[in-house]
Amino acid sequence: MAECLGVFVRVFKTVAGLRCYLELQQSGDGRESNDRTPGVGLGLVPTMGALHAGHLSLIQRARQENAIVVVSIFVNPLQFAPTEDFQQYPRTLNQDQHLCEQAGVDVLFVPTMAELGIASAPASAMPLTQVVPLASMMSVLCGNSRPGHFQGVATIVTKLLHLVQPNRAYFGQKDAQQVAIIQRLVTDLNVPVEIVPCRIVREPSGLALSSRNQYLTPDQKIQAVALFAGLQQAEQAFRQGERSQEGLVAIVQREVAGTPDLQLEYVELVHPRSLLPLARIDEAGLLAVAARLGTTRLIDNVILRCRQPIVAIDGPAGAGKSTVTRLVAEALGLLHLDTGAMYRAVTWLVLQAGIPLNDVVAIAELVSQCQIELSSQDHPARAGAAQPTVMINGQDVTEAIRSQDVTAQVSAIAAQAVVRRELVKQQQSYGCRGGIVAEGRDIGTQVFPDAELKIFLTASVQERGRRRQQDLKDQGKPEISLDDLEQTIYERDRKDSTRALSPLRQAEDAIEIQSDRLSITQVVEQIVNLYHSKLL
Ligand code: PAF
Repeated sequence: MAECLGVFVRVFKTVAGLRCYLELQQSGDGRESNDRTPGVGLGLVPTMGALHAGHLSLIQRARQENAIVVVSIFVNPLQFAPTEDFQQYPRTLNQDQHLCEQAGVDVLFVPTMAELGIASAPASAMPLTQVVPLASMMSVLCGNSRPGHFQGVATIVTKLLHLVQPNRAYFGQKDAQQVAIIQRLVTDLNVPVEIVPCRIVREPSGLALSSRNQYLTPDQKIQAVALFAGLQQAEQAFRQGERSQEGLVAIVQREVAGTPDLQLEYVELVHPRSLLPLARIDEAGLLAVAARLGTTRLIDNVILRCRQPIVAIDGPAGAGKSTVTRLVAEALGLLHLDTGAMYRAVTWLVLQAGIPLNDVVAIAELVSQCQIELSSQDHPARAGAAQPTVMINGQDVTEAIRSQDVTAQVSAIAAQAVVRRELVKQQQSYGCRGGIVAEGRDIGTQVFPDAELKIFLTASVQERGRRRQQDLKDQGKPEISLDDLEQTIYERDRKDSTRALSPLRQAEDAIEIQSDRLSITQVVEQIVNLYHSKLL
């Protein structure tokens, strides 16, 4: 039976209630609720309760990206060995519900074991079809000391994904092995969901947040910081060129050895996605650690990437993002990932193929098979214009994408969700190589959430109005009053930040540059300086 315990959050203990509610919401008939969110689709944050700021950051991200947010709370017996803390695991439902209400969660799903078809017997005794992740992903890191754990996680997560049917599911990167296993699971089993890994949230001391930190005494909390300190030292050595497994592992071991109460369980270096052990890092490595402090087991990790950094520049329309991005790329000798040119290239392709702009299915097929290449070399026909060469399906379209036809249709094409989805994939594959500067409304929040340097470039509406007026004048176009320009900019900001698809918002870790009193050269200089001070 469905219950409505909270003012805003609906609490369901049954699958029937949950499904019925979600189906009504998604068909639009039951839309009663928290209509406060930009975003489309449904976001799931699976948890075992005892919510803390780490969970709240997952919820916040889900809230920003989805129309409906479901949080599940289920202390899953399948993932606890008989010797582990299943019985003692903190259960704080009232407080969790209150936190969910405050965080604007729509639905709290709190199933009983029976409701999920799980007996309350020890995991090993249960007759239940289970999902078995790849053995190679379970034989490293926590898999060695927690046999059966990841099978239990994979089984329950698969159940939750089927029951809730979210578009996106959010997991904390603190459990990096769990994230990699779930990503592999949804790929291998074609589960139609996007797995969104979210950065580790730490206490000011550096200690990674965990529900199990509740077990620690104040003194133990201080001692536990040695784990992160070790990882940080290894990260610093990595930046200075240390790539070997022995070197990096030894640094963490040395630091942890300084806190004798911390009983190291492992320090391992593996590939962040495949989890295969690495002897050295050539591309990226996950350096992970687990230790016991008294009876509490703690884990932490860092991802070390060899790729050159990514600089992501977000901000409202008219703040000068594209010019600044181009100049920053030039100054740093990085590739300007001109996302606008990518949308233009697709528009050109659609027009070439004679596909009507409303034939979304044909466009989906075309876009999902196209290959766009950008190169930082100036196109010969546009020498000096700092225009990267743009190829689509092997054809040079650098010139063609600037035609009037393309210009007239590009916004209609860019507004299609399928086009965006496919191009984001291509942009992200550039991201794997690194060494790019990219701009866009959501480049730092959604396309490259791991970008090493994020800038939120902004200017007041008045200043952007003045700049626009000057541009029109320079182009010899008819004058528009400042009031009208400001009104248009204000309206555009409102639409961009409330739009369903990829709304504009400032990433938590972005550095804001307010450019009202700055010239373009000064803005570029600031970003180049930040790049050098932060990353080199
Ligand atoms: O990370 C957790 O809290 C759990 O492993 C999860 C994903 C909710 C599955 O029980």
